[in-house]
Amino acid sequence: MALQLTTNQLLTLFACASVACVLETYRRFRNCTSSINNFPGKRTLLRPYSDLASLLPGIPGVVPDRYIEWEDKYKIFQEIGWEVYSHVSAWPKRHISYVISDADAIKELVLNRAIFPKPGIKVLELYGQNVVAAGDGSEEWKRHRKVSAPAFSEKNNKLVWNETTEILSEIFAEWGNKETVSIQNITDLTLPIALLVISAAGFGRRIPWREDINAYIPSGHKLTFKKALTTVCGNLFFKAIVPEWAMGLTKKWAEARLGFHELEAYMQEMVNDKIDTSLGDEDSPHKSDLFSNLLAASEEESASGESSLTRQELVGNIFIFLLAGHETTAHALAFSFGLLACYPEEQQKLYDQITSVLSDGRHPTYEDVHSFTRSLAVLYESMRLFPPVTGILKQVAQDTTLAVHASVPQTGSAKSFKSDYATPQRKTIVIPKGSTMSLRISGVHYNPRYWEDPYEFKPDRFLGDYNKDAFLPFALGGRACLGRSAFHGRG
Ligand code: HEM
Repeated sequence: MALQLTTNQLLTLFACASVACVLETYRRFRNCTSSINNFPGKRTLLRPYSDLASLLPGIPGVVPDRYIEWEDKYKIFQEIGWEVYSHVSAWPKRHISYVISDADAIKELVLNRAIFPKPGIKVLELYGQNVVAAGDGSEEWKRHRKVSAPAFSEKNNKLVWNETTEILSEIFAEWGNKETVSIQNITDLTLPIALLVISAAGFGRRIPWREDINAYIPSGHKLTFKKALTTVCGNLFFKAIVPEWAMGLTKKWAEARLGFHELEAYMQEMVNDKIDTSLGDEDSPHKSDLFSNLLAASEEESASGESSLTRQELVGNIFIFLLAGHETTAHALAFSFGLLACYPEEQQKLYDQITSVLSDGRHPTYEDVHSFTRSLAVLYESMRLFPPVTGILKQVAQDTTLAVHASVPQTGSAKSFKSDYATPQRKTIVIPKGSTMSLRISGVHYNPRYWEDPYEFKPDRFLGDYNKDAFLPFALGGRACLGRSAFHGRG
């Protein structure tokens, strides 16, 4: 017998279901918050960084703010009173995250990868498994890291340096003796520089600087290399949730799909070129480029009976070197230039050091790198203020605890804090298995416990002693950045 319901009955049923849903959500919140002893923090319906939350604008209590790392820096920790806060959410599943700006707790955490492993990042496996996407504890990560780490050799650093000076000489020659050179968006300069360097030092592809560098499309392609790469970088999460067929539905999505295909074509060309030249030319001048090193290490592994990287995994690692290496570097340089423009006295000090090292007007060489202490200090200070990577996620593999410090009160300056709170109060937080730990790099970088006048641009702080554990642009521990020394060469 078919069941028939009146409109009123249907509405009542819907209302009851809604109330049950709200009560269930509330129960989940209560369960979560009581499992962490009601540690203070944020509560939202959606989980931070979940697919849906990444697409929607922030709505208090519902969708977490996306750009909070940029806006809040250390402020939120001062409001909470601790250098950690909890974030409890109920959808898609109940979830607890802790966000931390305590460098001591972060150090303890990153050195304990069995309890706090880095999760695998599915979205970065787009073109093949690679060293960044593979999670901790997996055989995959060990294999990728073993093959890729030796690629970042001293010889490669030297190549990065030489390529950078070569490209800059070309740019300066093009600018000639012009009094002023106007660049509307500084990344129109720094992104192509970063790409040309990674192209040459990463893959042995020397592309000359040209005036139309932002518009040049090689034959057989529909987009510039830069456009393909920036499209992919900007649409990674979108690609992860929208199926391939649906990407033709709007013009914008179709452009994104073209970007993904074009980048794949560019990378396949790089692998083909490289394998051809490596086979044919043992004395190639770019023998120490990252990709040749990666190929050599992979071949060595397979010769010694170990499993090497497949062609797909080689492409996966090329993608990750491009992704990890170009936007980070380009933005670090862009912020450095911007800050130098805002602080002409710092610009002058930097200029004076460069001209004193190169007093005879010669071009800088790799051997000079250690003399440019102020260049490095400016880059470091810019990355302290504007870290290219603002946060790092870790999982929690078992129920555990962690000791964290009280935050510096809002009224406290670094000086008064150091004397008044020499030993800040500590508290042990309870961390249930399955939670997420979010290391807030900008929170650590603006923490007055480590940095005097944290909002000020003061490169000099990196010329003396500073707390290395509180400077995290390249992360810390076993999953720290492999390209750090290559970046120094570009700086
Ligand atoms: C300013 C420049 C750079 C910054 C700020 C930076 C930052 C970082 C950070 C924070 C991580 C850790 C990510 C995590 O654990 O989730 C990382 C990892 C990594 N970076 Fe960089 N990076 C830079 C340049 C480069 C360059 C130039 C390359 C290579 C061409 C590179 C290659 C890598 C690789 C391969 C990893 C993964 C290491 C692993 O998981 O074992 N990075 N980077």
